[in-house]
Amino acid sequence: MNMAGKTVLITGSTDGVGRYVATQLAMSGANVLIHGRDTARAETLSDEIKRAGGRAPAFYQADLSSLASVRKFADTVLADHGRLEVFVSNAGIGSQNGGPGRQTSADGYELRFAVNYLAGFLLAYRLLPLLKASAPSRIVNVASLGQHPIDFDDVMITKNYGGSRAYAQSKLSQIMFTVDLAEELRGSGVTVNSLHPATYMNTTMVRAGGITPMSTVEQGGAAILHLVTGDDMVGKSGLFFNGLNEAKPNPQASDAAARRRLRALSLELTGLPAT
Ligand SMILES: NC(=O)c1ccc[n+]([C@@H]2O[C@H](COP(=O)([O-])OP(=O)(O)OC[C@H]3O[C@@H](n4cnc5c(N)ncnc54)[C@H](OP(=O)(O)O)[C@@H]3O)[C@@H](O)[C@H]2O)c1
Repeated sequence: MNMAGKTVLITGSTDGVGRYVATQLAMSGANVLIHGRDTARAETLSDEIKRAGGRAPAFYQADLSSLASVRKFADTVLADHGRLEVFVSNAGIGSQNGGPGRQTSADGYELRFAVNYLAGFLLAYRLLPLLKASAPSRIVNVASLGQHPIDFDDVMITKNYGGSRAYAQSKLSQIMFTVDLAEELRGSGVTVNSLHPATYMNTTMVRAGGITPMSTVEQGGAAILHLVTGDDMVGKSGLFFNGLNEAKPNPQASDAAARRRLRALSLELTGLPAT
């Protein structure tokens, strides 16, 4: 897909693989909307892109651990832009950011579920009217091979908390949402796919986990860019990719009843109307 003039929102693009993807898309002439929490990091990125000859990105500051902040973020994007061809839900926290203990969001939800999954769920729904009006358009959910089934009796992991489980539950939730949303969007011209970009890229979350990096943001970025721009992805939706290859996620993603349950819970937790 020729990205020149296309409007692309990438959450979590002030750092890590999102930063790389935002830079590449800005260099290809896209109107890139970057997002993060830190204005100084955003300014540094914007300067780098401009110096390299890319189109200056617009920055949106929003803390995704607060649903009020997510709503405001979506409303600002909708007010500022008449088109949105791509939404990459990439922002996330790893299994160990902020320490090994259980943390909660501003709304009282388990933090990884809230930031990695619920925020992207709410953003996608708030941005859908614009994505539909801009079709053909694409949603890309940056998930992971780290996937743990949801225990619907304890979604907020109040018992036996572990950072890896919390991270992996949030990532499978993104994948289940992708399958569910793809069905809902069939025929709309909006496709949605998810992926594991690469294993242990050299990024802040991997370093925070004390893990020795095994791959680069360029490798993971290429996998994300494939879903964003690949001509072979035209019309493909509801799929999960491991890097550049289609792959099978955890079996819970194929469980329609579990997806319905997750959807109902997510609508309730985010205050969206039940459908
Ligand atoms: N690294 C890997 O090997 C790997 C493997 C599989 C999947 N992934 C996935 O790839 C995505 C990007 O990861 P990464 O490794 O590039 O991570 P990273 O370098 O740690 O960057 C994370 C990004 O998310 C933003 N973010 C984190 N918490 C936020 C919050 N509460 N509100 C708003 N923004 C927030 C950060 O913004 P600030 O700049 O404000 O901190 C940053 O821009 C994640 O979804 C991750 O799960 C990564």
